[in-house]
Amino acid sequence: MKYIKNNFHVENISTQKIAKKFKTPLYCYSYLRIKNNINKFKNHFKKIKPLICFSVKSNSNLSLLKEIKKFGLGADVVSKGEMIKAMAAGINSKKIVFSGVGKTYSEIEYAINKNILLINVESRNELLTLEKIARSKKKKVDVGIRLNPNIDPKTLRQISTGKEGDKFGVDEKEFLDLVSYSKKSKFINLKCLSVHIGSQILSHKPYEKMLKVLDKVINKSNYNFEYIDLGGGIGISYNKDNKNFNYEIFNKLISKFIEKNKSKIIFEPGRSIMANTGILISKIIYIKKNRNKNFVILDAAMNDFMRKALYGANHQIIPSNKKRRIINKKFEFVGPICESTDKFLITKKFHSIKENELVIICDVGAYGMSLASNYNVRPFPAEVLVKNSNIKIIKKRQKLKDLI
Ligand code: LLP
Repeated sequence: MKYIKNNFHVENISTQKIAKKFKTPLYCYSYLRIKNNINKFKNHFKKIKPLICFSVKSNSNLSLLKEIKKFGLGADVVSKGEMIKAMAAGINSKKIVFSGVGKTYSEIEYAINKNILLINVESRNELLTLEKIARSKKKKVDVGIRLNPNIDPKTLRQISTGKEGDKFGVDEKEFLDLVSYSKKSKFINLKCLSVHIGSQILSHKPYEKMLKVLDKVINKSNYNFEYIDLGGGIGISYNKDNKNFNYEIFNKLISKFIEKNKSKIIFEPGRSIMANTGILISKIIYIKKNRNKNFVILDAAMNDFMRKALYGANHQIIPSNKKRRIINKKFEFVGPICESTDKFLITKKFHSIKENELVIICDVGAYGMSLASNYNVRPFPAEVLVKNSNIKIIKKRQKLKDLI
């Protein structure tokens, strides 16, 4: 994705052309980026040969899941709906791992019937429920137990998941108790220790601490885990400050870890695969000028893209056409929704822009469309994929009549 003669392009198609054909607000993804991200991710860990289970919650578009499947990735799912979608995309159930603190009886039963790779349980009562279902089916079920390693991942508090006090996983003592319990059970086949400490993590240090905790807990458990599921969480540089995650060091840390532990590694990346593959193209409805700033009112809103309203996350906004000069004034990009948090970005300067022109909200491929809602009775935007110089619609714009 880049400017060609001042016009922003996805692969070799201009965003103006795309918007003209499919209207706005519009999610647009680049196949090349998806391919490159997956290949890079694989390359970073090629000695470890992990099973990479794409985290479906980050983007659950069926066509994109089908593309991701072609690269041999499995899926990390957190609901029956995600499981069904992953399988509908052709992902083999033996590459699906199921996490989440509140899996229901029927969800666990469904996962057992589908023979998925692992059900990663997050509490004693969930393990007991699973055992009960397994017993009723006279089946020994492959299970992981999620450890809460009490690590601060140094990311936004709202997306931190592995600290004492977070609802996820079980603490060390409970973990060791559940391992002992599982060893004795005829219906639990304990295969995996799983962790996931948070998202948008940009330093390898929290992972380093996490691996030390895992080492200690595995020793205490005196158990050979066939799999260690390290979750997802690797962040990307949204503000292009080049503070990128150091994959090399992370790879070394894991290599050292598995020299001792001999387990197969599972990763559950979402953002690192998808975030920079997607943009949200939006049209300027009005520019409202006041003394201190220009409000740029877009046709995209927090229902289309929630990350700013929900986490205060900043995403770059760029003009689709950047031929005009820069104006040194405060610009506040907002949506039309009746909430003050319905804003995308405040900048001190921006290109001179006009109503009806297009802007691009960057890096929205992960947790963009998957977090969208119908708030204010606004239909879901459409999604398109640019692949081999073709634009394909991969989710039609929702019709108002479907909402009424
Ligand atoms: N595995 C588990 C068990 C998870 O809970 C998550 C994300 C992932 C893997 C994938 O993490 P990733 O590689 O994408 O960081 N909506 C938030 C992010 C929430 C992440 C929830 N769990 C956002 O927009 O930043």
